[in-house]
Amino acid sequence: MSRSGSDYINASIRALPGSPVHRVDASLHRLQWNENPFDYPADLKEEVLQRLARLPWSRYPLGLRAYDLMEALGRFHGLPAEAVVVGNGSSDLLRIVISAALAPGDHMVTIAPTFQAYRRHAQLLGATAHEVALDPDRDFALPVEAIIAKTAEQRAKLVVVCAPNNPTGTVYSPQELGRIAAGCDALVIVDEAYAEFCRQDLRPLLAAHDNIVSVHTFSKAFGLAGARIGYALAAPAVAAELQKLVTVFTLSPFSEAAAIVALEHFDRFEEGIDRLVAERDRLAAGLAALPGLRVYPSGTNFLLIRLDGPAKAAQRHLLHTQRLLISEIGGYPGFENFLRISVGTPQQNDLVVSALADFAAQPAN
Ligand SMILES: Cc1ncc(COP(=O)(O)O)c(C=O)c1O
Repeated sequence: MSRSGSDYINASIRALPGSPVHRVDASLHRLQWNENPFDYPADLKEEVLQRLARLPWSRYPLGLRAYDLMEALGRFHGLPAEAVVVGNGSSDLLRIVISAALAPGDHMVTIAPTFQAYRRHAQLLGATAHEVALDPDRDFALPVEAIIAKTAEQRAKLVVVCAPNNPTGTVYSPQELGRIAAGCDALVIVDEAYAEFCRQDLRPLLAAHDNIVSVHTFSKAFGLAGARIGYALAAPAVAAELQKLVTVFTLSPFSEAAAIVALEHFDRFEEGIDRLVAERDRLAAGLAALPGLRVYPSGTNFLLIRLDGPAKAAQRHLLHTQRLLISEIGGYPGFENFLRISVGTPQQNDLVVSALADFAAQPAN
């Protein structure tokens, strides 16, 4: 036998670049993943733990598909539980929705730059991802007509728009997204991972367009990235199809309890969102005052900035002088001068501004 074990792995998977498997140094200021700098409140953690102590851990959850959370989310959004699909982080749900829409040889349309998981999931399925470029000189405005034209040209089965967009931070209006849903003969995923930070309500869009699936996460505004909870809202007939791809007992009861307690205390998280948005605006003002640096408008918990020269040097400077970990915009040619910075605690944000001021003052810059 001349074949090795990995030869039996599907060719479209073997063609993909490897996934990072390493531990990030916990002592760094981690501003690269758009996490919430303010942890899930300690008294609510207590409440979750008390609920968990009352559960029999030997039993499978009674709701085969996180039914208690589906109901809680339905109440929260004013929708029937049947319009909700719950998964292990929105990363998992995005994989589910993309797998439900695309077969090998199919086409998907998205924007660029955006969250790279969409392209990766499409490629995994043997489908082709077409990216419509966003223009930095137009503040990354949504090219609605170009998206509709590309979808028709490629007979694409799926369109994915991240709204607000990661990594640009741009907010897209319900009108623009509605025009895409109406103009494309395709399923349209609207990834709303950061929606709470721009306080835009896209639910009326769902009622108007049954080809929209809106994908949400508890990882950002609710400070629950560690618990891995995501959900999709869709027309019940679409949601029923998506449920077929959700692994039975997908969500641990620990995560489900944390999400339900968060929804029951939403006012507490609203205060946190206000605090974070105020910090974002303070960080943006601090950065905008620095020479040779442009800050783009953001409706999220991160900021995209453009420097005069290659961003890698600034990224290295921040890491080596202040142990600040921030993200470059990898995988998109033309974005070598850009950095994405998650909004941190007030102290971390001050550190970012002073470290970038220090970098700008270096003779080579
Ligand atoms: C746009 C977008 N969608 C989805 C996710 C995945 O979030 P999670 O899997 O934690 O729900 C992220 C994470 O950063 C994101 O930026």
